[in-house]
Amino acid sequence: MTPFVVKKRFIPRGKIKVPGDKAIAHRALLISAVAGGVTVIKNFPLHDDSKATLNALVALGVKISPMSNQISVCGRGIHGLIKPRKPIFVNNSGTTLRLLLGLLAGQDFKTKLTAGKYLNLRPMSRVNIPLRLMGARIIAQNKGLQEYPPIIISGNKLKGISYSLPVASAQVKSAILLAGLSAKGKTRVIEKVATRDHTERMLKAYGADITIRKNSIILNPGKNLVSPGEIYIPGDISSAAFFITLAAIAPGAKITICGVSLNPGRIGIIHVLKRMRAKIKLEYTKKSKTKSKEPFGNIIVNYSKLKGTVVNSLEIPSLIDELPVLMVAASFAQGKTIFKAVGELRVKEADRINSNVMNLSRMGADIRVVKTGNREDIVINGVCALYGAELKSFGDHRTAMSMVVAAMVAQGQSRIDDISCINKSFPGFLATLNSLMKR
Ligand code: S3P
Repeated sequence: MTPFVVKKRFIPRGKIKVPGDKAIAHRALLISAVAGGVTVIKNFPLHDDSKATLNALVALGVKISPMSNQISVCGRGIHGLIKPRKPIFVNNSGTTLRLLLGLLAGQDFKTKLTAGKYLNLRPMSRVNIPLRLMGARIIAQNKGLQEYPPIIISGNKLKGISYSLPVASAQVKSAILLAGLSAKGKTRVIEKVATRDHTERMLKAYGADITIRKNSIILNPGKNLVSPGEIYIPGDISSAAFFITLAAIAPGAKITICGVSLNPGRIGIIHVLKRMRAKIKLEYTKKSKTKSKEPFGNIIVNYSKLKGTVVNSLEIPSLIDELPVLMVAASFAQGKTIFKAVGELRVKEADRINSNVMNLSRMGADIRVVKTGNREDIVINGVCALYGAELKSFGDHRTAMSMVVAAMVAQGQSRIDDISCINKSFPGFLATLNSLMKR
């Protein structure tokens, strides 16, 4: 564990690329594995989380060949996965675990899934409950009313269900839809608040019979999935978020991030920063080469003085992973910013309410949590400047990278206890940051 010291400030300027989108990469792997044919996945990001899904699928008998910056997956069809020889370790990848449970629910074998120390603390009832309703047999670690990994899932003959999501979660929605592929009858997922739709787009690209009506997603399992041959993964907006924010708050900065996913369910950060008067331009790439019809393009951000805003509860899923870095932006803004109903942050890789309140307060921010019944809001009174401090990553990649961004613009030196966790999603983060140093 090496502490990371940020002392020298520079004006970040230049053009960068970020790794392929993590959420899309998981789906591309999982869906290719149960489709017919070979899929070449281009611009595939290799990091701890994507490796967790890749290794899990290899353990389930899927042939995956890595090539430079792309991989090829030999699909086995929906009933072609084989019983793994030993428990599958999913490391700390929540998306791997939850989506894989969906896929395994309808297989005719038993699998034990074990997790790393951070994922072991994350709630799993949210997926186990609907999958059990579909017929899956699941045994998990019980603590109080909640379930946690490790999880043993015995596949079964499933039946389609109609399920209204109690928490706005794309992971839960996706797990149900993946289980629905091998169920008898229609599966319907109802969302009160829209979440990212990568699974729906990807399933369509593989020929699934899936329709979206208002807030319902309906999957008819009759059709075999067929590989479209090639999938291109655009850059990850959740990784771009650190550079979008850095450019927005560092005086004199100008950063262009090329080829980033601009899925409407993921660009909440752009809408919010624009409301805060950030100078952001989007250049959409007209011809979509993604096959799953994921929109993408360049994001150009120039520094400007920010002002506070209100982020309402309906916007939260579209920027859930960007909240830590948006809190940094709010600290540098003039006036008050309120992030409404952010309770889900407590069950991410770390408790991101605690981690951000602690770190940003140490840097001189005016940040507090306001509780109203079950709801938790975060209120930040912008102080326009932060000061270097002793910071902690809590083993959470997004907390670590947000703190590097805050420390880059703060006055004085900061030290972050351990940033090795950034390998979860963005191993090249520091190299990308350094490439923006003015020569
Ligand atoms: C993800 C959905 C979100 C997000 C996570 C990735 C996904 O989680 O925070 O990093 O790939 O579907 P929830 O579905 O729990 O909100």
